[in-house]
Amino acid sequence: MMKNRWRQLCLFMVCLIAVFHVSAINIIPMPAYMEKGDSTIICNSFRIKAPKSLSGEVVLLKEALSAQGYAIGDGIKITLSLDKKLPSESYDLRISCEKGIEIKGGDASGVFYGTRSLLQLMNASSKSGILECLHIQDKPRYGWRGYMLDESRHFFGVEKVKQLLDLMAYYKLNKFHWHLTDEPAWRIEIKRYPLLTTVGGTGSWSDPDLPAAYYTQEQIRDIVSYAAARHIEVIPEIDMPGHATAANRAYPELTGGGTPEHPDFTFNPGKEEVYAFLTNVLREVSELFPAPYLHLGGDEVAFGIKAWETDSSVQDLLKREGLKQVKDAERYFMLRMADSVKMLGKKLIGWDELLDISVVQNNTVIMWWRHDRTEQLKKSVSSGFSTILCPRRPLYFDFIQRQGDKWGRVWNGFNPLKDVYNYPDSDLDRWKLSEEEERLILGIQANLWTERVQNENRLDYMTYPRLCALAEAAWSSREVKDFDSFCQRLQDSYRLFDQLGIYYFHPDIKEPQGPVRKEKEVPMDFRD
Ligand code: ACM
Repeated sequence: MMKNRWRQLCLFMVCLIAVFHVSAINIIPMPAYMEKGDSTIICNSFRIKAPKSLSGEVVLLKEALSAQGYAIGDGIKITLSLDKKLPSESYDLRISCEKGIEIKGGDASGVFYGTRSLLQLMNASSKSGILECLHIQDKPRYGWRGYMLDESRHFFGVEKVKQLLDLMAYYKLNKFHWHLTDEPAWRIEIKRYPLLTTVGGTGSWSDPDLPAAYYTQEQIRDIVSYAAARHIEVIPEIDMPGHATAANRAYPELTGGGTPEHPDFTFNPGKEEVYAFLTNVLREVSELFPAPYLHLGGDEVAFGIKAWETDSSVQDLLKREGLKQVKDAERYFMLRMADSVKMLGKKLIGWDELLDISVVQNNTVIMWWRHDRTEQLKKSVSSGFSTILCPRRPLYFDFIQRQGDKWGRVWNGFNPLKDVYNYPDSDLDRWKLSEEEERLILGIQANLWTERVQNENRLDYMTYPRLCALAEAAWSSREVKDFDSFCQRLQDSYRLFDQLGIYYFHPDIKEPQGPVRKEKEVPMDFRD
């Protein structure tokens, strides 16, 4: 009893002192509703109260507060709880002199996001520990808030991926799409086919002679559970039937050929062993990733499909199945692999080329990426497909972000921070989708292809702070979005990036700080 009185008295005095200091409320993404109180509290240390079901959220909160230099055990009370009346992922955060800090979530994700907002407030308080009393009610605009990393072209490894996941979580992004196989290398261990990594894992886009680099199954499990603790789902992509060069290097009997620029680019749809091989691969993959989705790519098969016109196995398939042209073989291939995905209890995700070959609707999610083909998006939603928006303009982060930057792609322009921020409203206003069609849009995602991303600094430079703009675009309703306010709130993120040693792009600084970049110039038009 005495102890409680003493605590209340201390809290009251702390409020009095703190009322003279005004700290910023700099949360990214901008919350749905925010009301400031008229006092503040000083926090030097915390005690956390939560039910057992939120023990994961408690561990991560303690870890983050300790990393910011706060003591845990006594001091301001943080109460975490579930409130089933709130929707999934939403939260309610109150900071008051009377009750300390209270975070209620519709589920554990909601509570987690409440703690991320709190940590951002702590970060904004510049370690003074002074927090304004306030009330925040928050919920996401979209359920799919994604970022894709291509590790086939260049490999970054466990620690860099974990740092990325930490920052995704900090900004309430929740889907990590992992592009693990492609032309230069295959990056995921498959026990049944060891050559995929020992042979297929060698080299990178900029150096074909590098020794094998890939994720072991143990490392994948570690990353997946690291992500899950941060409420991020990891979606693996095993690209097929195109972008299969690395797999074909390991097992040449699977190849369907390609072109001189893209040799052995395709799996062979005419060979029965290809289906057995890929289904066995997917079986191992689906056991490693608890997410309900398997991404099978399906993009740019046109780069290699000509070779099928003279391949005897494909020609036999056409005859056997009564198919007219090689495009029909592509459809045949994808439908069979869609069956494998279904048999494994997963949903199929594919790039928007799947729309050209009419895949099954109720088990398929489309990623619309060809920004110059709006009709593909229209086709996707009007045919009833759940659809994720990740158009090259403005959501491909391998595009440059400032006029004059050299090391990235352009396409009638580039992808500055503001364009990322204004997405998808910039397009939604033009498309005039029906309400039903808009409901089919699961969310948005940025993609970092890494032909031009040869090292960690480059990854940072192309990702941050565009990742913050993506997060606000995916989470915050249009009513609360404001680019100028966002740029102001970004100042705290820059400070955080500095602390973490992240080599970010700063729109106001001509030459960013950090090591001199000496990268080989690469053609601008590859993959377009
Ligand atoms: C893609 O950029 N080929 C999906």
